[in-house]
Amino acid sequence: MIPVNQPLIAKNALKYVSDCIKTGWISSAGSYITKFEEAFAKFIGVKYAITTTNGTTALHLALATLGTGPGDEVIVPDHTMFACADAICYTGAKPVVVDVERDTWNIDVKKIERKITKHTKVIIPVHIYGHPVDMDPLISLAKKYKLAVVEDAAEAHGALYKGKMVGSFGKINCFSFYANKIVTTGEGGMVVTDDEKLATRARMLKDLAHSPKRRFLHEEIAFNYRLTNLQAALGLAQLEEVDKFIEKKLWMADLYNRLLSDIEGISLPPKKPWARNVYWMYSILIEPSFGISRDELMDKLKKKGIDTRTFFIPLHCQPALRKYHLGNERFPVSDEISRRGLYLPSGLAITKKQIEMVSYAIHEITRRRHRR
Ligand SMILES: Cc1ncc(COP(=O)(O)O)c(C=O)c1O
Repeated sequence: MIPVNQPLIAKNALKYVSDCIKTGWISSAGSYITKFEEAFAKFIGVKYAITTTNGTTALHLALATLGTGPGDEVIVPDHTMFACADAICYTGAKPVVVDVERDTWNIDVKKIERKITKHTKVIIPVHIYGHPVDMDPLISLAKKYKLAVVEDAAEAHGALYKGKMVGSFGKINCFSFYANKIVTTGEGGMVVTDDEKLATRARMLKDLAHSPKRRFLHEEIAFNYRLTNLQAALGLAQLEEVDKFIEKKLWMADLYNRLLSDIEGISLPPKKPWARNVYWMYSILIEPSFGISRDELMDKLKKKGIDTRTFFIPLHCQPALRKYHLGNERFPVSDEISRRGLYLPSGLAITKKQIEMVSYAIHEITRRRHRR
């Protein structure tokens, strides 16, 4: 089976992780945490980076740090990973979903304004599948209505918007380090910000909010979202090779693009002139002219030993969000891409031969289809 993702473990990973074990620094108190946070802040070009246990808790921590709570509304794209909705709901706020653009699959900034009410507090642009959101108009809108922006860059480490790293535009922004992410710690996350007060508050909230006056005194309810030194050691090693990993993603996408571009009915991943897409996963749409559906294609690929994944299911279709009365509102683009989209094997360990095998398999399926 060609797996949809296989991570590439960096040269120094074993050395750094062994160091934690040999020295006994296995909890969240070790020096790799600070090293990883400082190196990540430098990589993104922000002042502060704070590790968390995963991308979901990073989103929750960012929202909680901003004081998001019951009665607030948080704007989020309809096409995203469900973790965004979970994080909003943990705070007691209401997720307000906006349809996405057909050409980037990201939140449609033109459709945000009509969703802003006096309760809106935050906008979460999600850089989906590694392609940046069009941040300039989104930031202007947020400024106009005095809303905070929390970027969800879980899938977009190293993606550039007009030459600047995503994760450096919002007030406090989030990353995931799950095993299929460009920088991984197995499970892990990070919030980043330029604001010293927010950084201090996030640090306090992620660690049970010990009172600055006295340890073990707690004036408010908080969380234990501490990453371990072991995970940070792995993260630091991975981060040392991040440029190489991004290059590999660009190479992978370029090769797939070349091998698939002549097949009718496949829309290749987005690439706006102002963007560096880092192709978290190589994602495509199966259009009607392809002849068979996305699901049929996935089935046929599975029979050939090739693993794939569908795009996310839109938030407005999620039973868990039923109580937010999304009612009769329509999200045509999100519905369509969720029905047509899939991603192909594209983890960092993928080989040229595997990409050729996947592409050849799709060509073969289309040839058979034309003979039918
Ligand atoms: C866009 C997006 N946001 C948030 C998350 C949550 O991250 P985690 O799985 O680390 O909790 C993910 C996870 O893949 C994601 O893709």
